[in-house]
Amino acid sequence: MRILKRSIFPVIASCTLAMMVNGVLAADPDAGQQKFQQFCTTCHGENGQGDGPAAASLKPAPRDLSDAEWQASVDDQHILVVTRDGGAAAGLSPMMTPWGHSLSEEDLHNIVAYIRSLDD
Ligand code: HEC
Repeated sequence: MRILKRSIFPVIASCTLAMMVNGVLAADPDAGQQKFQQFCTTCHGENGQGDGPAAASLKPAPRDLSDAEWQASVDDQHILVVTRDGGAAAGLSPMMTPWGHSLSEEDLHNIVAYIRSLDD
């Protein structure tokens, strides 16, 4: 995995640069991971697997965000809306609170990219 990451990094870096030159800012999963660790791991766990310290007291508990079936069943917009506006905005538990006040639009897109990267 490390070796793979290292070998594709130059490709990703040049693509990112190309997109920035074109005026499209690419979402950054690493920056998303930092925000996730800051705000989300208490419930969602270090790796988003639904095993944070607070998860046991939540009903329903947060799902495993790395679950491929769930990943395939939702679009990026769903992840963004739930994160920004809270679970209630998507018919889910209000215990998943809105984070739009603490996260910028860029943070939100980075978090979506991070959550997507868990699917492996
Ligand atoms: C106080 C605990 C708590 C925190 C903190 C929290 N969540 Fe959640 N989250 C939940 C719960 C509980 C659910 C499950 C809701 C349900 O299934 O009804 C959930 C569900 C989700 C889902 C899945 C929606 C789905 O389709 O099942 C996403 C994505 C998500 N949270 C993202 C985040 C992100 C990103 C953060 C940090 C910015 C965050 N959550 C912080 C409790 C939390």
